[in-house]
Amino acid sequence: MVKVLFVCLGNICRSPMAEFIFKDMVEKEGLDDKFLIESRGTSNEEEGNPVYPPAREELKKHGIHCDGKLSRPLKKADYDDFDYLLAMDNMNLKNIERITGKKGGKIQKLLVYAGEKGEIADPWYYGGFDRTFEEIKRGLSAFLSYLKERGEV
Ligand code: 4NP
Repeated sequence: MVKVLFVCLGNICRSPMAEFIFKDMVEKEGLDDKFLIESRGTSNEEEGNPVYPPAREELKKHGIHCDGKLSRPLKKADYDDFDYLLAMDNMNLKNIERITGKKGGKIQKLLVYAGEKGEIADPWYYGGFDRTFEEIKRGLSAFLSYLKERGEV
């Protein structure tokens, strides 16, 4: 079982998108029983709130549903409970390090698996949920290939 936690700031846009796109991706490959997939935010500002409507709509356009998902803040203990803590941007990465007291290893930016140094820009501020979807999907496909190459799934 590979336990994957996607992390953004509010846990209402990018990391829930990553959570549900990845769940859909692994399900289509018949790998869903090999994964535990969740998401969190580094801020508790949106705690208990559902996925932001434009993010939900973007998922729906691709036939992906995220019903029942409510924002949850990242906790220190999540470090031990997950094998990968994947940040959307540099600020998320710093905040994961601050909250968990750990650095590197299983804490990475999602796009590093696609060989990219970049970040997944926050659509909460910048809009472009369709671009966000594509960027996240690129990172997730590369991450899944990485896990397969390593024989983790
Ligand atoms: P997310 O976007 O980190 O992709 O979920 C945000 C959502 C809400 C806020 C910031 C970012 N906010 O400040 O409330």
